[in-house]
Order: sequence, then C-alpha cells, then structure tokens
Amino acid sequence: MNIYIDEAGQSARLDSGTVSYVLEVVDGKYLVHRYFGPSLRRWHGCGTPVYYKRAYSTAHDCSVPNVSFDDFPFEYPARGRGDFRIPSLQVQRQDGISVVEPLFKSWRVLEGKPGIPGLPSVFQGDTDAATLEVICEDKQAGLRVYMYYSVFEGMNMVARHQCFENTGTQTLVLENVQSASLELPARSYEFLSLYGTHAKEANRSRFALHSGIQKIESVRGSSSPQHQPFFALLSPGTTETSGEVYAMHLVYSGNFLAQAEVDSFGNVRAQIGIHPEGFAWRLEPGGHFATPEAILNYGGSGLNSMSHGFHRLYREHLMPRHFAETMRPVLLNSWESMYYDVSMDKIETQAALAARAGMELFVLDDGWFRADNSSSSSMGDWQCNLEKLPGGIRRAAGIVHGKGLKFGLWFEPEAVCKNSLLYRKHPEWVLHIPGYEPVEGRHEYLLDLGRQEVQDYLVGVLDSYLGSGDVDYIKWDMNRPLTDVCSLALGPEQKGETAHRYILGLYEVLHRVTSAYPGVLIEGCSSGGARFDPGMLYYVAQNWASDNTDAFDRTVIQDGFSLLYPPVAIGAHVSITPNHQTGRYTPLDTRYQIARLFNLGYELDLTKCSEEELEMIAGQIAEHKGERAWMQGGIFSRQEAPNRNYMVWSVMGPDRSQCQVMVFQKFYDPLCCHGRFRIQYLDPDTSYLETGSGQIYGGDELMQIGFTVPLVKEDFHAFTFHFRRLDTEKMPPVNSNQFRSGILKRGLNPPPDCVIF
Ligand code: DGJ
Repeated sequence: MNIYIDEAGQSARLDSGTVSYVLEVVDGKYLVHRYFGPSLRRWHGCGTPVYYKRAYSTAHDCSVPNVSFDDFPFEYPARGRGDFRIPSLQVQRQDGISVVEPLFKSWRVLEGKPGIPGLPSVFQGDTDAATLEVICEDKQAGLRVYMYYSVFEGMNMVARHQCFENTGTQTLVLENVQSASLELPARSYEFLSLYGTHAKEANRSRFALHSGIQKIESVRGSSSPQHQPFFALLSPGTTETSGEVYAMHLVYSGNFLAQAEVDSFGNVRAQIGIHPEGFAWRLEPGGHFATPEAILNYGGSGLNSMSHGFHRLYREHLMPRHFAETMRPVLLNSWESMYYDVSMDKIETQAALAARAGMELFVLDDGWFRADNSSSSSMGDWQCNLEKLPGGIRRAAGIVHGKGLKFGLWFEPEAVCKNSLLYRKHPEWVLHIPGYEPVEGRHEYLLDLGRQEVQDYLVGVLDSYLGSGDVDYIKWDMNRPLTDVCSLALGPEQKGETAHRYILGLYEVLHRVTSAYPGVLIEGCSSGGARFDPGMLYYVAQNWASDNTDAFDRTVIQDGFSLLYPPVAIGAHVSITPNHQTGRYTPLDTRYQIARLFNLGYELDLTKCSEEELEMIAGQIAEHKGERAWMQGGIFSRQEAPNRNYMVWSVMGPDRSQCQVMVFQKFYDPLCCHGRFRIQYLDPDTSYLETGSGQIYGGDELMQIGFTVPLVKEDFHAFTFHFRRLDTEKMPPVNSNQFRSGILKRGLNPPPDCVIF
C-alpha cells in the first residue's frame, strides 16, 4: 500500500494493493481524474483521453488539443466555467458572483488516516493507511479546497472528503459541496440502490443507466428509509459473484444527494454528498467547513466483493471499537409484547422467562414515561411514570439484573411532545417557523439539536440514567422527518445551516455520551431502519433494521442491508405469529434461522409461548451462543440460488475453518426443478464435513456442483447446513439418500477419525 507522486509532480497514484486511484494535473492547474479500479503496478499515462473537437463548446487556456470542458474529467467540477454536467461545488460570493474555479496548488502524502472534526469517519485502526492531501485554490474568490483521499492496506476502498477554507476577505456561502465526484469510463452500467419506506426498508432497485441524470436523495432531514445514502454502478449482468461494481456510500445521517450523469458523449460522472437543497453554509473569512466522508468501493467480482469490503471497513474502521470484536447479547425487547402498556409485573415475568431461555439482556422499549398508553404524551421529560412502574427505572433495572440479565432502556432523545414540561418551558428549543404551528409527526416536534443548550440537556438526561449504572444498553430511536427546518438560534443569514447543524448536534451528543460511557451498547433505530447509515454506525454498534419482524419480509430487508453492513450491525428479532405487521404464520425455526445469521434477538410475549416453544427458544439460544463467537466475526455472503423461490446466505468463520449456510424456501413447490445450491468462497482443494448429516464433500464439489435440499412440504422453510473444513482427504462414496436423510437428522457428531481445525 502506498501513495506515489511522480517526480514532475504531475500525477499521483494511490494504491491499496487491491485498488488504485490516479489523479493528474493538466497544464499545472486542472486536477483531473484518470482511474479508479483494480490495483496497478504503475501508471504511464494509459487511458489519457484523445479529444474530438466539440463544436460550440468551451474551454479556456488549456494546452490539450481540442479540449472542451463539456467532457473534461474534472476531479471536483465546479459550475460556471464550461462544465455543464452535475457540479460538485457551487459557492455564492458576497459580490453576487456564483462562480469559483479552484485550481491545483499542491499535494502531499500524509501518514495514516485523519479524522474529520465534528463528523464521523473511518479511522485507521490496526491497518496501515495513507492519505493524499490535494490543495486547490481560487485566489480571487478566496477559497481553498483541501481534498483528502485515504487508502487502507489490502482494502478495495478509498475514503474521500473535502475541507474548505475562506482565505479571502469576503463571506462565501457554500451551496453545494459534494463529498466525492467520480469520472468513470464511458461504458454501459446498471444503477443499483436501496429504496423503501417504513416497515419495507432496503429493497433493491436496479436499472440500466441511461443518458441524463439519475438520482436518489433524502430531503427528510435524516438519511431515511426511502433511499440508503448509497448507489453502485455495475457492469451489465453483474451477479453476487461476478461483474464490476463501483459503489459510493456516504458517512452521514442527514439529507443527501447521490447521482450519476451520462452526458451526451457517453461519459459517466457519479457523485454523493450533502443535498444542496436546504443547505447554505456561511463561511466567514478564516472559517473552515468539512464535508462528510464518502466511501468509494470497487468490487471486481460481483456484489459480494463490494459487500466484503464494506463489511470489513465498517467493522474494523468505523464501529465503536469496544463492540467491534465483542459478542452481542441475545436480547428480549418489550415492544411487541407490551407496546406502551408496560408494568413491573410484566417486566418481572418476561425477564424471568427470558433468563430461563438463556437470554442476556432485557430491553424496556417505549411506554415507561408515558402518561397514558399512546404516543401522544410526555415525550421530552424522560421522567418515569411511577403509576405504571412504582419504584421507577431503578427498581425495574434491579428486577431485571436480579434475574441475571442486563437492562436496556428506550429513548427518543431528539423528540418532544407538545404536552411535555420541556416544551412548555422551552418552546424555542424546537425546530419551528415563527408564525406557523410546527408540523406534528407521531405527536412530536423535534428539538433543535444544533443548539448547545439542547445538546447539554440531552447529555444531562442520558447521564442521569447511565451515571447510576442501572442502564447497560440504550435503544436510541427517532421517529419523524425534519419539517419546519428553522432554528431560532440562527440569524437570517445562517438559516440554511439548520439541517446540517442538527446532524452535527446529534453527532456531538452521541460523541459525549459514548465517550463518557464506552461500555454502554447503543442500538440505533428510526421507526426501524429509517436512519441506518454509516454515520450512525460510528457511534452505535448495531441498528434496528425494520419494524417489520415478519421472517419472510425480513429476508428481503436483511438481504438489502447486507449489501453494505456486516450482519452483526443489523438487528433481527424472532417475533410471534401471526406476525403483528403482516399477519403471516412462519415456523419458529424459520424465524430463528433468518435472524440468527444477523444480530439475534427476540421480541415477543414469552407468556404466550407454549412449553415446547420455550424449550425450542432455549435450544436456539444455546446453539447461537456456541456459534456466535465465529459467526458474528465471520464473512457473510449472499450465494446464488437456483431460482427465485430460494434465498441463500452463508457465513464463513474468520479462520475459514467452518461455514454456516442457510437456504430459505419461500414456498413449497411440487413442480419445481431439483435445484443445486453452489456455495462459493470455500477452499476447492480441501474437504468439508457437513456436521448435521456427517457427510463429507470436496470444496470443489460444493462450489461447482452444489448440494441439493430435501423435499419439505412447507412454505417459509429454512434449511441450514454447517460445513467444517477437514485437514485430511477421507472421502467415503457419496450416497445421496444418506445425504438427504442425514440433513434431516441434525446434530450428528463428526466421525471420530476426522480432524477438525
Ligand atoms: C419505533 C421503533 O422502530 C420500534 O421498534 C419501537 O421502539 C417504537 N418506535 C416505540 O415507539
């Protein structure tokens, strides 16, 4: 891994050993993009465009023959000087002019990976990293741009962000400051993104990229379930295991814009950053502004190669370090069993049954502070309702701790109800437009988190619960979009900063709380997965993926999030049937198998479970505890299924000695083909024992031929297979009947003459 600047100082190549990124300076002033893709040994100028004369196009003062700025590969394009495609930079100057042209000034290599003050970003961790700093400047406008590119040894990603400095004497207003702009070779691509809504998060959208601008965005104040702040451009026909993937993911929790433009000549430009709509940041002389970080990911062998990179980066270089390597507790969440109607008796009963089943954490969800059993009251005061819970949170925590479980508590710190004491005392603390009644969302207003006093209040509230040691875990919820985006604390000229300041304030509160209580595990939540983004993952080690707990729907939701996030970060709970959201019945084993490869929890009324079901749950938890040490740190892949009736996931242990495979059969189909399930990422040169059946297979067989699953006349059925790698080749003849029946008899011990490692 290294960063090379050529002797003449005209080009720079970042090389992680897996990917390279090349920049060049043309005419000593224009910074252009040359390459992002598989690692190069050197760059000799290969791929430098030959320009065709573009009639009626513009270029000024450039020695490159026939160049037109209409299709010049600017690394960080600004509007107004001949490039009419999507700009990454727009600045309003005090003199009324809205054109800036930062030109190349210098570059240097920095050791390691710098952080971004006030914003979450990937950190160096235990991997070698290096950073290229490029400075561009528009002296006349008084604008200096510092561009940062970091690479990590052996990783297929580049982390980018920009800092702006006002070096002049006039105020500048930053109106559009994208985190990354990327010029891609003029080829055919497909545009992949994740879309959704409440209870239907992270669905894949995929279509052929075509002429013009294709974009996804959030203008809801948070990253939103409508679109994940991510998209990828794929070579046509890309599968999970083949094809090229160029992806961008934004480490930010607020409004974003992600777009790709195919210009009239077929050139492709991709960008991601804060949404310019509703954003205007005033940069006074001497002032600085930093953009959020964008992660650029190149996967050369299908979507899994992209995911493997993101998973590793986020686990090792983004999540709170304390939790990245620790096993996550199996929890029981009270929401679907109690909703708002919480009581000490219920807590005690559920905690006792949870302890009996082997669970480790009881989370008291919403309702504990509400004056009634609805969402309309008391949000913001964070005083326990002692009529519902005599003795308060301390007593509830004591009861739960007394059963040998940790105690978790739900908060929605950013929201406030109109009838709260807090709102009556500080109406000016909520986002609102003077003269307008603020828009309610779920009976809530939002606090103006950009205000220091609001941040102090929230830190104080959380401190009052965490400081006592009663609370071991927090579920941090947020249940409405930002409206009335206006802060009374900001003057008219700064109102355009409100939405971004809200996110900066949120990060500041999270920073203060997590620094003071690094051992407290926080689960992020936003009506399910409405603010599940890398920015939050920097502070909270796991995120509730969806309020939809139906196992069938969860296969889509978790599969979608697994494109980006390691499964340990994705909360997945076993709930009751009929499912509360869909009314669907799925087998208890299936509900467990779907959740188990992710961050397993339970969210159901245990008193409604039969003795047999309670025993099953206890068995599931015992099995999970025996496996989670390697499964939670393992390599998750989506495997190709023989047809759309199946979904196949696998987790390979970090030492590659074992692999868990889950095959989900959506519907029993008596007329289906006899599909074979091929499992990639095994070692073709060794053999594996399937521990359920005692059957041995070559890695090459599993990868090339694939196994079959038995006939099970059940919709929503999950098959699981556990493969252990063998160090000696002892292959008895394969008997397919033996294989099939063996799978049904799960839990067989490996033959005694097999050495497992
Ligand atoms: C929305 C969350 O997604 C749910 O899990 C639950 O915590 C409710 N809020 C509580 O109000």
